[in-house]
Amino acid sequence: MKNDNGPFAAEHKSGVYKAIFNRRDVRGQFLPTAIPDEIFSRVLYAAHHAPSVGFMQPWDFLVIQSQTVKQQIHAEFVKANQHAESLFEGKKRELYPALKLQGILEAPINLCITCDRERGGPVVLGKTAIPTMDLYSTVCAVQNFWLAARAEGLGVGWVSIIDEQAMKDILGLPEHVVPIAYLCVGYVSEFFEQPELQSKGWANRLPLEELVSFDRFGQKKSAAESNLINQIEHDGKVYPYSLP
Ligand SMILES: Cc1cc2nc3c(=O)[nH]c(=O)nc-3n(C[C@H](O)[C@H](O)[C@H](O)COP(=O)(O)O)c2cc1C
Repeated sequence: MKNDNGPFAAEHKSGVYKAIFNRRDVRGQFLPTAIPDEIFSRVLYAAHHAPSVGFMQPWDFLVIQSQTVKQQIHAEFVKANQHAESLFEGKKRELYPALKLQGILEAPINLCITCDRERGGPVVLGKTAIPTMDLYSTVCAVQNFWLAARAEGLGVGWVSIIDEQAMKDILGLPEHVVPIAYLCVGYVSEFFEQPELQSKGWANRLPLEELVSFDRFGQKKSAAESNLINQIEHDGKVYPYSLP
């Protein structure tokens, strides 16, 4: 097919934005329904088409279906989560135990996306000045996976409250392989409209206009000075492709 360099046709464009605005982190709504390999392979393929520094493709995809492995990971979550809870104070300390922060045992598939820090040898194009670029590349694969999964009707929940070395030991990761994302994946009873941490009163989305600066970090412009800020404050807030 001819590579066309204009914007996507309206229905394709809306598909991209729809996936972005309707993606959610899923913890408590997983269904036991099996994920057909045909669909799961497509989502993995989307992840594998992420950008990567020097085209290094530092990721591996570890598919976890064993209930025993899930239980071992879950036990580590429980441990790390108890510690996490003790770190908060006041209102957040009260709220924390009510948050469900993983769906490890309920999700039919757990997936660990890892970064092989030695892939491509000691000198990798683009990674010479900032060596952590391989980690960021792997995060791009995670995001591709998350968005493609949403388009397929699959929920994804990222679980980060697990001791890294314990996770490496359970999953048998070599020393030079870093677990980037431990994901719970499955069909869901519903996708929430808002981030759960927002609806439960933990945090709100920050106003985008406050996060944009010009020419030097923190140098702001008002809507009167900048049409971009003006657009963000008005039209940019309308998500035309989100669910009602
Ligand atoms: C790097 C990363 C780690 C996260 N770790 C957790 C986690 O351990 N448990 C959890 O419930 N959500 C986790 N999340 C999900 C966030 O809480 C969620 O993305 C955020 O609240 C916004 O909600 P949304 O993803 O539904 O838009 C993580 C997200 C990211 C990007």
